[in-house]
Amino acid sequence: MVEVPLRYSGVQMGRRMTVVRLGSGALWIHSPAPLEDALRVELDDRGPVKFVVPASDLHGHLFMEHYRVTYPGAQLFAAPGLAEKRKDLSFDGELGCTPDPGWETDIDQVPLEGHRLNEFTFFHRPSRTLIAGDLIFNMGSDRPLLTRLVANGPRLRPRVGPTPLFRKSVRDRRATRRSIDRILDWDFDRVLPGHGSIIESAGDEGVRGGLAGWLAPTAWGANRRVAQAALSPTANRMQVPFSFGLRYERTHF
Ligand SMILES: [Fe+2]
Repeated sequence: MVEVPLRYSGVQMGRRMTVVRLGSGALWIHSPAPLEDALRVELDDRGPVKFVVPASDLHGHLFMEHYRVTYPGAQLFAAPGLAEKRKDLSFDGELGCTPDPGWETDIDQVPLEGHRLNEFTFFHRPSRTLIAGDLIFNMGSDRPLLTRLVANGPRLRPRVGPTPLFRKSVRDRRATRRSIDRILDWDFDRVLPGHGSIIESAGDEGVRGGLAGWLAPTAWGANRRVAQAALSPTANRMQVPFSFGLRYERTHF
């Protein structure tokens, strides 16, 4: 792993690059760091760089150009939407619902559906490691106050999971929840958050605690269905003149 300084809107968040040596011996790089000489020597010691992937169309595509130049044999992958943003790069493929054959033996992946970001989370099977982008922050009490505010919200309660802003960027809560459930189905132990401290073991407990209740089915769902029925052109609106679900949907989404 390589830690990269990153300031977001003036707040120090940091970012993590992860390198996986695949069973084939080739290197798979997630969210690349600037390819400085010391890093290049370390990579060259470990194997040929074969794949470079971002976490999303927002997270982890900076510095890919360094790898394109230094490793012309490496394949650069885009998240959906990234190729339009990075017209300076030529990508060799796009991340999808299933892992590329080049890394599927070692690494599984899940796209976060129903969210504004085209975010992917990965699972390295041999080491039982979860590799995340913006889905997982882990900013404890040792972090600066502003960093904790952005990551954990105004109550500053440390948690392993997405920021309040990320949580508010859901478009389809059921689709997003299905993706979360797929991620929680993985048998992971170690967690590499896109931002914040690594959890070396028992990381599943923190992630499950941070994600278990997010978008979980609640009475809100029943209210929403009632509200949708009320809005249907075939519905008798007088039967459901108002509901909490309708108000919630209009104000929150
Ligand atoms: Fe990020």
